[in-house]
Amino acid sequence: MKKTMSSHQAENTDKKFNKQWDALRSFMTKKAVPRLPGVSSMRYNPFGTVHQKVTGIVDATEIASEPLLFEVVDYECEGVVATGVIRRREGAVNKSDLAIAKMDAVDNTGSFHWPTEEALAYYLLKYRHTMGWPEAPHLLEIGAGSGVTGFLLNAAQSPSKGQRLTLSDGNAGVCQTLRRAVMALPDIERRTLIDVAQVLWHEPASYANLSPDYVIGSDCFFFDAYHEQLADMLCAFKGRKPGLVAVMMAPARGTTLERFVKIIRERLVFRCVEVVERYDEAMWLIHMREIKEASSAPNQVQKYSSDKNYPLLVIMK
Ligand SMILES: C[S@@+](CC[C@H](N)C(=O)[O-])C[C@H]1O[C@@H](n2cnc3c(N)ncnc32)[C@H](O)[C@@H]1O
Repeated sequence: MKKTMSSHQAENTDKKFNKQWDALRSFMTKKAVPRLPGVSSMRYNPFGTVHQKVTGIVDATEIASEPLLFEVVDYECEGVVATGVIRRREGAVNKSDLAIAKMDAVDNTGSFHWPTEEALAYYLLKYRHTMGWPEAPHLLEIGAGSGVTGFLLNAAQSPSKGQRLTLSDGNAGVCQTLRRAVMALPDIERRTLIDVAQVLWHEPASYANLSPDYVIGSDCFFFDAYHEQLADMLCAFKGRKPGLVAVMMAPARGTTLERFVKIIRERLVFRCVEVVERYDEAMWLIHMREIKEASSAPNQVQKYSSDKNYPLLVIMK
């Protein structure tokens, strides 16, 4: 059943959402937003943990009213290669994307992948022998966007385990692209039982049938308006599977990560909610180097900022 809000709460939530949405829409439609010296870009990624090679272009004009291009890409991370993954081409946003985003009240930031998705893939693959995800019968990626982590974990998995992997997102257009990508995977690349689901954190009915053992997600704490609902969903999963582990990553982005962590801790459903800053030495050294470079060149255009660019690790058990 949906949670009800007072009209005042609903108005505040709407205002917050609209503000974030306007900022994201302007970013995604590439309206001229002047880049000021010393202002970091949210998509600046000095870590280079996932290598990408575009191997083809798919013209999908026949299924869209406006030209909408996809590309085929190979991702490599920690010796694992996910081959032939379809994704949206960078910058290929059109009017129907914006209409879909308005309809589900989920922006289209998931059309293209964000740096934290690469950090999450790297972390989960590098520490796969201790992180437990390969043994989980059902793995769920939430707010998956283009699903880079999911596709890489699929490629790393042993088919003999018969693991189910669900890639989910709240945006219908993003899910459509994920479905295209999953359908196009050759049999040999299906190392898990991989599927796609439209899961809206604010619509419990959309996840009523899901009972994952392991949840992963990156860059999903940016949306203050959905913190409570995201926590509701994770707690519901924990209620269904007490052994559930959730591993998420996001940059601090002001107080957004901190606020979500406070909410999930206060629920007292997860016995341990840990925020880890120094989780990998190689990432940490790059982080330190970037901070040093940014402070010694304050007028550099794409300045690194810990707040916007360094992914923090959140482990919920
Ligand atoms: C910043 S993007 C990150 C995407 C991807 N994880 C990455 O890092 O590249 C946030 C993702 O959360 C999804 N999202 C935002 N609000 C949501 C909601 N209420 N329910 C489900 N998904 C949502 C968006 O569609 C988007 O894919």
